[in-house]
Amino acid sequence: FHGKHMEPRPPIVTVMGHVDHGKTTLLDYIRQTNITAREAGGITQHIGASTVTYEGKNIVFLDTPGHEAFTAMRARGAQATDIAILVVAADDGLMPQTKEAINHARAAGVPIVVAVNKIDKPAARPDRVRQQLSDVGLVPEEWGGDSIMVDVSAKTGEGIPHLLEMVLLVAEMEELRADPTVTPEGIVIEANLDKGKGPVATVIVQQGTLRKGDIILLDTTWGKIRAMLDSRGRQFLKAGPSTPVEILGLTSVPQPGEHFVRVDNEKSARDEISKREQEKRESENVTAKRLTLEELYS
Ligand code: GTP
Ligand code: NA
Ligand code: MG
Repeated sequence: FHGKHMEPRPPIVTVMGHVDHGKTTLLDYIRQTNITAREAGGITQHIGASTVTYEGKNIVFLDTPGHEAFTAMRARGAQATDIAILVVAADDGLMPQTKEAINHARAAGVPIVVAVNKIDKPAARPDRVRQQLSDVGLVPEEWGGDSIMVDVSAKTGEGIPHLLEMVLLVAEMEELRADPTVTPEGIVIEANLDKGKGPVATVIVQQGTLRKGDIILLDTTWGKIRAMLDSRGRQFLKAGPSTPVEILGLTSVPQPGEHFVRVDNEKSARDEISKREQEKRESENVTAKRLTLEELYS
């Protein structure tokens, strides 16, 4: 993408890794909140988005669940992201969803920074983790490879400043830029139907500046933005590139991963969605007819 007014934008960093390896605890420490304690059974079931300021620079973090049931969510996390932090517990080592996370990051062409976590534990074996990662092609810099690996403890905070510095360093090399003046567009991170608020979607603006009152067209729905909120529920009127916001005002709940773009008026958004729905119905009819014919001749 090349706009006329390209400006540096904050990196979008997705935290990935096997279940219970400490992704949310690491983010808790970075954000100084305590989400882990409030999660049902300590298991992350959605992608949380938050912006953190470190040494005067903003970083957008996306948390992802490590449970094996959430493959699609990890894949989408990797697609919306600039850098992946791969969390590997030093006592547990490489596990199935660690490998899966590596594959998602590679498929999306996203650089990986490894956080070798839980080094406060007596059973921690950070060198074994480095060996296991080398075996799957991630060779640490200190062994002559090009993978950045940082020993951390999400519990004590040890190593976390160094990890954040490495993330900012990789971000700088990526030269992330966006044009805040073009037509706003972005991606849906997660969405749900709230009893009081109606359809709620967390989106990340990728280009342009999204404003309250804008009409947006998504893949399966549309809406006029009634309110924009951050993860703490604070309202704001506009959101530039790399800003995660919760938006209210959609006419139905979109799927995570859907793209959005601002359009000029409600009519064009509504017409476009009806056209797509019509096309979908027609293709479903064709499939249904084919099935009946196949059944007839089988
Ligand atoms: P899912 O979201 O379910 O995939 O798990 P997660 O990767 O977010 O792990 P979570 O943060 O829920 O941590 C799992 C458990 O490990 C919790 O009991 C944490 O307190 C503990 N834990 C996380 N990081 C550390 C660490 O650095 N040291 C120690 N000793 N315990 C940790
Ligand atoms: Na957990
Ligand atoms: Mg978690």
